[in-house]
Amino acid sequence: MKVAFYLSGEHPSLPKAEVKAVLESFNVGFRTHLDLESLLVLELDYPPGSLIEKVADRLAYTRSIGRFLAVLDPSDFPTGLKRIRPPSVGRRFRATAIRVRGCCRELRRVEVEREVGGWILRGNPHTKVDLTHPESEVVVVMTSGLLVFYLREVEVDRTSFKIKEVAARPFVHPASMRPTLARAMVNLARTREGDLVLDPFLGVGGIALEVLSIGARLIGADISEKMVIEAKNNLIAYGFLEGFELIVGDALSLELDRKVDRIVTDPPYGRMSVAVGRSPEGLVRDFVGRAPTYLKGGGWMVISVPKDHLDEGVFGESGFDVVEYFDVREHRSLTRRVWVTRLRE
Ligand SMILES: C[S@@+](CC[C@H](N)C(=O)[O-])C[C@H]1O[C@@H](n2cnc3c(N)ncnc32)[C@H](O)[C@@H]1O
Repeated sequence: MKVAFYLSGEHPSLPKAEVKAVLESFNVGFRTHLDLESLLVLELDYPPGSLIEKVADRLAYTRSIGRFLAVLDPSDFPTGLKRIRPPSVGRRFRATAIRVRGCCRELRRVEVEREVGGWILRGNPHTKVDLTHPESEVVVVMTSGLLVFYLREVEVDRTSFKIKEVAARPFVHPASMRPTLARAMVNLARTREGDLVLDPFLGVGGIALEVLSIGARLIGADISEKMVIEAKNNLIAYGFLEGFELIVGDALSLELDRKVDRIVTDPPYGRMSVAVGRSPEGLVRDFVGRAPTYLKGGGWMVISVPKDHLDEGVFGESGFDVVEYFDVREHRSLTRRVWVTRLRE
């Protein structure tokens, strides 16, 4: 079964990597069928059903997911529709066309929607168009010079990230990361429900909130007692009363009574936020060296640092393989590099 993921355009590659990482964490095999701008079509080794809802619940950078129907060249539209069997859409449906980055200007969106509507009506004599409360939605994404059709199964609910937006939390910290990026980091670590995740630079708990939101367990540590108290208050404010242990301590010398499955963290990057005598670069380098004492062999570590604070060699020397990394521009003076790594067995 081929499944289409229509992605947020916030980053060119991170949303795609997030989808693949979440499928891996659910042990679902897949092959890439189409890899286009803001759109990914994967052939899944699994009858989707409820799986799609679970995957949708996890993703931060996906807008909607559906059953892939067809792909057409704009020059073959609408004629090419005649060769494709219309899907069954129930009693009420809507056709929606989305244009990605000015693609396919020769086609007007309303025209595309009208033609697709006609195609569906010809194959479903008892259905009718309902723009406000449709039972089904046929989506056409115009991207990378192609028209991709899918039958929407889930609209990803991204409002939960708005509610947790940094400024909306009871306790805020200027260096907190956006909840969407925090969630994507948890996902890139292939975190599974029930996994034990360590964030040794807890701050006010932005990553911690996402760890608990997907049903994993957390050990959070911060050198500042004030931060640990504020993180705890934030977790409680969002309804998390258990599943976590918070420690006041130095990330370089934590005493954990067991190894964790994942490390997901955002160390301090400003000179003001590290102890006297330490540079942020030195702190993260030392932390990467120390991380294998906290993490199980084969465990994943996802760590976000300013782009030039770490080089790949540091991971290799500490026993990690770098699987991938993503540069995420925050503002003029900060581009984060999100390193996705795995500790050798
Ligand atoms: C960038 S903030 C983390 C932000 C967090 N990801 C969030 O979204 O709220 C880094 C945190 O690391 C803490 N910190 C600095 N040095 C530390 C150390 N050696 N061990 C543990 N925590 C430390 C700081 O107190 C600060 O709260």
